[in-house]
Amino acid sequence: MEIEFVAADAAAPQKTALARIVFEGAALEGQLARAAAASRFTGAKGQTLDILAPEGGAARLVLVGAGKAESFDATAAEHAAATAYGAVKASGLETLRIELPSADAQLAARAALGVRLASYRFDKYRTKEPVEKKPTITKTQVVAAEPDKALAAFPSLAALADAVSFTRDLVSEPANVLYPAEFAKRVKALESLGLEVEVLGEPEMTKLGMGSLLGVGQGSVRDSQLVVIRWNGAADKSAQPIAFVGKGVCFDSGGISIKPADGMEDMKWDMGGAGAVTGLMHVLAGRKAKVNAIGILGLVENMPDGAAQRPGDVVTSMSGQTIEVINTDAEGRLVLADAIWYCQDRFKPKFMVDLATLTGAIIIALGHDYAGLFSNNDELSQNLLAASAAEGEPLWRLPLPDQYNRQIDSMIADVKNTGGRPGGSITAALFIQKFVNGVAWAHLDIASTAWKKPSAIPTIPDGATGFGVRLLNRMVAENYEG
Ligand code: BES
Ligand code: MN
Ligand code: ZN
Repeated sequence: MEIEFVAADAAAPQKTALARIVFEGAALEGQLARAAAASRFTGAKGQTLDILAPEGGAARLVLVGAGKAESFDATAAEHAAATAYGAVKASGLETLRIELPSADAQLAARAALGVRLASYRFDKYRTKEPVEKKPTITKTQVVAAEPDKALAAFPSLAALADAVSFTRDLVSEPANVLYPAEFAKRVKALESLGLEVEVLGEPEMTKLGMGSLLGVGQGSVRDSQLVVIRWNGAADKSAQPIAFVGKGVCFDSGGISIKPADGMEDMKWDMGGAGAVTGLMHVLAGRKAKVNAIGILGLVENMPDGAAQRPGDVVTSMSGQTIEVINTDAEGRLVLADAIWYCQDRFKPKFMVDLATLTGAIIIALGHDYAGLFSNNDELSQNLLAASAAEGEPLWRLPLPDQYNRQIDSMIADVKNTGGRPGGSITAALFIQKFVNGVAWAHLDIASTAWKKPSAIPTIPDGATGFGVRLLNRMVAENYEG
């Protein structure tokens, strides 16, 4: 999608759909007032009114409701622009020209971001899509009072859109294509952005004593990988880094504790945490963020096999703690145990944030709009919550009660990997906490938000959301740069 910021009097190209964003209750004139009266269009958020061949020469005019003027913020601008795109994307027209009800350059840039995010599609495996279903809009013009100012505000948002798209692509790929080594290869290719990428294979992880992570991948013909991504953008290249760790289960069959067939295909998405960490590193490099950051991806495939790990097995993690594997389907925490220990052991970061599609229980607790936040540090939590609200990626903090650790006491090892159904997301987080070694840490359980099927948010097409990239990018920008 090509983006331009233009002045109101700039000529529109041929085949343009004009979108006028209007506030609720705003007065419309002439033909538009009559059209609105004939259709119950009031300008309420999300409403659209399509007018074909309107007076004035545009091929098509769509009115988009933006809700109340007082609540028109950056998210509302994104959503209105994304809704406009959705209304005309497959119209046969080629340019979308958006007129906003506000002169703010930042809002114009966010409107452009909204279109970039809404126009994401994963269509590489479609060979027979009817032409009339294919999107035709290839260019978006956002009309701005000061086009240069809007343009200057856009590059960091374009970098964000690129990164979110990269994450969505990773998460959408089927598991026969995106297995750990292929994932690692795609991350390695990001060295062209200025990132440093190291890939550890099974021999290296064996040497490090990562019995917990390796046990998960043991039943797969695909080798497990640990990927270390580094962005050194701070003025002081040796300044203490911040760190992000992602669960990257490229496919989660459950292993020997196999999942039911119904819905199992969704488990190609079980690398959404690693996908988000990759996207974050992508945007930090893309906008040359002034920060030193580490991204660690634990990449495995969880499969049943003669060589697979069994329920009841005891594995030894890199931390030295032994783990009784009660259920081979509680594999994400086993991967994170070693990835997180390795992270703090090697990099001594200021803090660690892990992202993981960890538990079905978080969906039961919070539904599909909120991800769960667990943390041993109030300041880190506050920074995450503030960024999450501003980026429209909601988080809800849940407790880490010490007394629930009883649920993961093992009869024969230091800890077991499941704590039963009560508080299932909490006991999963408590398990992970045993591997953070006292470092400031937050865990985001994104099993509820990594994909939407269907999505009700105009900037998120059905499927992979890229959840986490936006909120972490803002959290870094607002607290840890410069
Ligand atoms: N990847 C799943 C969690 C998940 C479930 C993500 C549904 C998205 C949608 C995770 O590995 C898992 O299987 N968790 C188990 C844990 C249980 C065995 C303690 C779960 O949530 O059922
Ligand atoms: Mn599982
Ligand atoms: Zn899983």
